[in-house]
Amino acid sequence: MKGIILAGGAGSRLHPMTTAVSKQLMPVYDKPLIYYPLTTLMLAGVREVLIITTPRDQPAFRALLGDGRRWGLDLSFAVQDEPRGLADAYRIGADFVDGGPSALILGDNLFHGHEAGRVFAQAGRSLDARRGAVVFAYRVSDPRRYGVVELDGQGRALTIEEKPSNPRSPWAVTGLYIFDGQAPAIAASLRPSARGELEITDLISGYLEQGRLGVERLGRGFAWLDTGTPDSLLDAATFVRTLEQRQGFKIACPEEVAWRMGWIDDAQLARLADSFGGADYGAYLRGLLTAG
Ligand code: TTP
Repeated sequence: MKGIILAGGAGSRLHPMTTAVSKQLMPVYDKPLIYYPLTTLMLAGVREVLIITTPRDQPAFRALLGDGRRWGLDLSFAVQDEPRGLADAYRIGADFVDGGPSALILGDNLFHGHEAGRVFAQAGRSLDARRGAVVFAYRVSDPRRYGVVELDGQGRALTIEEKPSNPRSPWAVTGLYIFDGQAPAIAASLRPSARGELEITDLISGYLEQGRLGVERLGRGFAWLDTGTPDSLLDAATFVRTLEQRQGFKIACPEEVAWRMGWIDDAQLARLADSFGGADYGAYLRGLLTAG
């Protein structure tokens, strides 16, 4: 399965922080925001990833991530010249997915939970067998801010609505979606919504109408955080710092994930550690080699 990270957008709620710098390059405690969705894809076994950014920010993402080879990845880049909405990812990424299944993740979403990678990889495999789409639902206290999915007694989707004023359920659709090879065709048929965006909810509805939408509920042991406002960005940083300091393990460290996935060997991890000179980040990577 291939992956797409949607890392464009206006980031207007974070102005003036994002007036000259992309939201997805903002720090979340000790690393850039995009490391979090990138490692979520990696933990799900995805190695070929398209990163969609604004034209302004693409050089900075290339400088940060390169071609991904040092982490055992194959990264490519595309631009979205206007923030036309989340479903636009499949107009831009049509050639990249090339008729195959893919996972789309929003560049400002942070997922953390026990065996998250296994849960997402398993959903991808079930899709290969069944074909269709899988979304991940998360119980939230204020569903009006999100796409909301209504479920029947068996956990099957009944309706999906974008930012409803009277939500039919507390289940928000999170920013990670798995689609079969039809997503670009459905995206191409969408019209902009009243707010002028190609809505991901409409793309998902296309699968729901065909009876081919699966919903996986993420339990309360999962953390799903977004980072679109100053408060949520600071909350995410505090969350990461709290867990990292308590456990001594980093969350969303691409070098570590690549090494644990067996995509890079000890010698490569040691080289990556050395590339950080005296920074604590490098010391952490060196420590993995001795502690395991
Ligand atoms: P949003 O948080 O909905 O939008 P935004 O990042 O533009 O921020 P704001 O509302 O403060 O102006 O976007 C969710 C994610 O999707 C985020 O990673 C940016 C990305 N995105 C795009 O890449 N292209 C788009 O057209 C949109 C709407 C969002």
